[in-house]
Amino acid sequence: MATTSIPNQATYYKRYRMELDLVAPLPAVPSLPAGFAWIPWEERLIDAHADVKCQCFKDELDGIVFPNLSNRAGCERLMRDICERSGFRPQATWLIAHNEIYVATVQGVADRVGNGSIQNLGVIPAYRGQHLGLAILLQALHGFRLTGLAKATLEVTAQNENAIRMYRQVGFRFRKSYYRMVEPATYRISDPAWVL
Ligand SMILES: CC(C)(COP(=O)(O)OP(=O)(O)OC[C@H]1O[C@@H](n2cnc3c(N)ncnc32)[C@H](O)[C@@H]1OP(=O)(O)O)[C@@H](O)C(=O)NCCC(=O)NCCS
Repeated sequence: MATTSIPNQATYYKRYRMELDLVAPLPAVPSLPAGFAWIPWEERLIDAHADVKCQCFKDELDGIVFPNLSNRAGCERLMRDICERSGFRPQATWLIAHNEIYVATVQGVADRVGNGSIQNLGVIPAYRGQHLGLAILLQALHGFRLTGLAKATLEVTAQNENAIRMYRQVGFRFRKSYYRMVEPATYRISDPAWVL
């Protein structure tokens, strides 16, 4: 079951952890369509990443599962937190621009055991379906490889079938599942409640 809900009580959202071996062959980063450009990480781009993140997630289920993703201030907090972490990987942190507009974002962080963790990958709604999601995912994965990481991981909400299809397409496989609790009144989120 993907979601378990009790009226006025917490809702539990099923999430998957997926993993990819970065030592195995990895598809090349595809060329972007005409008019699109890669924007590598610079600290002055925190606001741009936060803006794109907010547009990507505010109307999605993950905006409920992770309330910070549903509003601009929360997205900025997340961005600042991510780029201050010791494992932050600028090489796996990218924007895609279309002319003057930023349209896609991803951040990469090495976790405590040295796996590259894909964070908050998103493409703004008007630009979906052009393989930009796939392209920015591969760009981040190659960035992890460049910094010597051997494995990539990510977590995805079980109902997010489009994202799961994209992750499976590049070779990510399910490793485990858990439920994340969202409290209705405060939308305070606990750590993963348990691991199945
Ligand atoms: C998931 C997301 C990043 C996909 O971005 P996108 O640029 O539209 O995806 P792409 O065009 O690169 O598609 C890559 C693959 O993903 C799958 N996919 C993506 N969108 C899909 C859709 N609407 N229907 C079916 N499959 C889809 C397909 O396998 C697709 O490959 P194909 O076109 O060769 O079949 C985008 O929908 C998004 O930003 N969603 C909201 C944020 C989010 O959920 N992020 C993931 C958090 S874990």
